[in-house]
Amino acid sequence: MKIAMVASEAAPFVKTGGLGDVMQALPAELSKIKGNEIALFLPYYKKIKQDSTIEVESLGSFYMELSWRESYVGIFRLKTRRKKLQVYFIDNEYYFGARSTIYGDFDDGERFAYFSKAVMAALYFLDFKPDILHCHDWQAAMSIIYCRALYGSWCPDTKTVFTIHNVEYQGWADSTFFENTLGLPKEYQGYLTFDGAINMMKGAIEVADIVTTVSKTYAEELRYPYYAHRLDGVLRGAWLWGITNGIDTTVYDPATDPALKTNYSAKEMTGKWDNKLALRQELGLRTDTDAPILALVSRLAGHKGIDLLCYIANRLMEREVQLVIVGTGEKQYEYALSALARQHPGRVAVRLAFDPGLASRVYAGADMYLMPSKSEPCGLSQIIAMHYGTVPVVASTGGLRDTVPPYNWDTEEGRGFTFQSYNADDFLGAIDRAVGLYYNDRDRWNRLAKHDMEVDFSWRQPAAEYMQLYTELRQK
Ligand code: GLC
Repeated sequence: MKIAMVASEAAPFVKTGGLGDVMQALPAELSKIKGNEIALFLPYYKKIKQDSTIEVESLGSFYMELSWRESYVGIFRLKTRRKKLQVYFIDNEYYFGARSTIYGDFDDGERFAYFSKAVMAALYFLDFKPDILHCHDWQAAMSIIYCRALYGSWCPDTKTVFTIHNVEYQGWADSTFFENTLGLPKEYQGYLTFDGAINMMKGAIEVADIVTTVSKTYAEELRYPYYAHRLDGVLRGAWLWGITNGIDTTVYDPATDPALKTNYSAKEMTGKWDNKLALRQELGLRTDTDAPILALVSRLAGHKGIDLLCYIANRLMEREVQLVIVGTGEKQYEYALSALARQHPGRVAVRLAFDPGLASRVYAGADMYLMPSKSEPCGLSQIIAMHYGTVPVVASTGGLRDTVPPYNWDTEEGRGFTFQSYNADDFLGAIDRAVGLYYNDRDRWNRLAKHDMEVDFSWRQPAAEYMQLYTELRQK
């Protein structure tokens, strides 16, 4: 199958969050399947241009209309390519090459509309007629609409898939954007219009052959206003499918991770305890205690549930535990957590940093991983934590619910500790159950951690589910 993948980020080239991880692993996994040919499209950001380790070759350039604008489109291809997986970069100095921003510019709507249209023009230029056009999040949403509106006679059999990684960001613009920037035939205005404005995610939801999201539970939740950020009505009318993400188990592997003090595996977990000691030493936590280390590595944002943690912090510190927090984000949380660390030297360590090496050492050295998110489309860090033998304590929502079934003391089934409603006392209750098992039955605790390490979180299964979906679509 010929599959074109379109996204605004993909590791190792550019990554700001979980989307970047998915776009690294999913195309690679699909390219291993016999008969598949994958073309991944990304903007040629300044950061990528300047990275001398990323070698590219130019395939050509042309001019493209974006409403009244004549815009340059350069096409570069990654040189160290594998036959089955080609990575293409869309080059435009004004939109991507001359600025450092990935997201957050005043003209993001225009930049990514340009990118989405340029991808279709590039496919045509390369004569790569995809069986499946798979676009991720609002920044790539418009490719689906340009595909239908302008390339229908060139690729009439192409099926389109739109994946929602986070419904909070939808690509809103005012109503003049339709004529002034998008330059689409009039009949597409209705798909894109929402509450008198333009909403690019809504357009893709309506026009795509199928909409998917990154866990089964989130697919259910998106039908309700509490989660859907106003798109619940539109999503209730869509063919919406959930496929839970995996992790790249070659990148995240405690047996080979170079950031760790000692590598270890489910078969031989003793190395994990070396990492626990090393983590305490690195962060200035007391070493003369048997306390469990509770950890959280996250953007410090409201919807990640940091307010719940702040609310219970003092009561939590009445327990015999240590707490490690790594991340940056909203100032009120940075202040509150730093103050907590000052009040409890040797017991609480807070690092206001985005530091992948430290993150790895925390996943390896901690006993419990906290993730009290208010909503979570999939979540990757709870999966990485389990893969490193760290037991998650999570809110039972979205992908957290699908990846962390609750532990059952009698049968020893389940993978972690969960709480149902978004409530700080329930969160503390779940922590208490975890801490209770840790202190009262260390054998059971160790078996749970080992069991979590043994779960297959690779992309094999999710990639097979995407293939099944693509195949069904093509038969329709
Ligand atoms: C977004 C979501 C996160 C998900 C990731 C990859 O970042 O917030 O839950 O894991 O996309 O799909």
